[in-house]
Amino acid sequence: MTHINPQTMGQQFGRRSWAEPWKIKMVERLRMTTREERERALGEAGFNTFLLKSDDVYIDLLTDSGTGAMSDQQWAGMMLGDEAYAGSRNFYHLETAIQGYYGYKHIVPTHQGRGAEHLISQVAIKKGQYVPGNMYFTTTRLHQELAGGIFVDVIIDEAHDPENLNPFKGNIDLGKLETLIRREGAGKIAYVSLAGTVNMAGGQPVSMANVKDLRALCDKHGIKLYLDATRMVENAFFIQEREAGYANQPIAAILKEFCGHTDGAWMSAKKDNLVNIGGWLAVNERVLFEELRNLVVVYEGLHTYGGLAGRDMEAMAIGIAESVEDAHIRSRIGQVRYLGELLTDWGIPIVQPVGGHAIFLNAKAFYSHLKQIEFPAQTLAAELYLDSGIRSMERGIASAGRDAKTGDHYYPKLELTRLTIPRRVYTQAHMDVVAESVKAIFDARAATRGLKMIYEPKYLRFFQARFERLSAK
Ligand SMILES: Cc1ncc(COP(=O)(O)O)c(C=O)c1O
Repeated sequence: MTHINPQTMGQQFGRRSWAEPWKIKMVERLRMTTREERERALGEAGFNTFLLKSDDVYIDLLTDSGTGAMSDQQWAGMMLGDEAYAGSRNFYHLETAIQGYYGYKHIVPTHQGRGAEHLISQVAIKKGQYVPGNMYFTTTRLHQELAGGIFVDVIIDEAHDPENLNPFKGNIDLGKLETLIRREGAGKIAYVSLAGTVNMAGGQPVSMANVKDLRALCDKHGIKLYLDATRMVENAFFIQEREAGYANQPIAAILKEFCGHTDGAWMSAKKDNLVNIGGWLAVNERVLFEELRNLVVVYEGLHTYGGLAGRDMEAMAIGIAESVEDAHIRSRIGQVRYLGELLTDWGIPIVQPVGGHAIFLNAKAFYSHLKQIEFPAQTLAAELYLDSGIRSMERGIASAGRDAKTGDHYYPKLELTRLTIPRRVYTQAHMDVVAESVKAIFDARAATRGLKMIYEPKYLRFFQARFERLSAK
């Protein structure tokens, strides 16, 4: 056998290796399937990875939402659930954690992020008002539209270019925002909807400088600024890494400073906050809080549980404290980056720079022979599953949906397939398996045929749409 000089992954990439700041106490068996089994499962799922049974999936990179592993401390917290209908002590723990780490004054718990989006949209948007934001998110935009709002994308142009290396591709273009305010008048703007590490742009962060400038612009016009804080801890990591003056500041301090420039936030706690279910809304203004607290009773549950069990709130309070530990966030983003480094090195087109929670394969470049209406990103997700049982998610034309006025598909510039890494779940070896499978379907790309949609639900169609393979031309 020829002698090879073994190198650790860190050495191969010219840096010191990192390791997870935890060890594994409990394991969950993974089921491996045959190609034939996967062909059958995908056909039954209408080529939509959302419709696969999880038992038919080997490595599940569909989403980082609610799929993370809780710590021993969080599981211990689950046993401390105070399941009183009203005034559960776990709510007060959660309230203290949010006030302490995010800095907002008033807290409303919700069952998950979209519960919070629903409440804030109903209370803060009047019919016909504009809601400018840094690219859309599916559920966020839908709730804004259902409340009568008109979403306007004011993200910087670079965000729509998967190859642009701007370190803060999540930033809002203040010029675009100011033009909208001048054209429509400040009274026609419901609020500015700012998301940390913009999901649909590839997990791209917003800089501290941008949020400060936004604050000043909003103050000038008397407009509120609300934050989608779902992945704001990850955003804080990029500020620490890339923005002058923050290298020596702890993640917790950066998070609090950033939130301090906003008037409130909504949260899908299933991401950064390291729980399997949960969400919250937090605002500084008392009157708004009273309205939200009243509405939560209608849609979610009493204002001290908002659709959650006491044990869920306890796990969330503990998860919040764990999520802002520098070692945790460094290893979380380090794992995503590791997969990105491998794919980049092999010439596979992905969104650059690599973002916080996922690798986004650039499906337009991957399958450059397919038209966007042939669903290249959906096709890529299907092929990856067929190759190895890895489940990913389409973030392209299917996710973008249709223009409510014209009925036409939106044709987003970004046609992406997302490999989303759950927190604290998979190892570096799993990332190697994923990288090799992506390479295998990339090498076979020329012979790949696209899809056509054969069933389209009215709302958030990507969740339940069905497709079939186009026949050979
Ligand atoms: C940026 C962002 N906002 C809001 C949500 C909605 O949260 P949930 O899935 O908990 O309803 C998500 C979920 O994926 C998200 O990524």
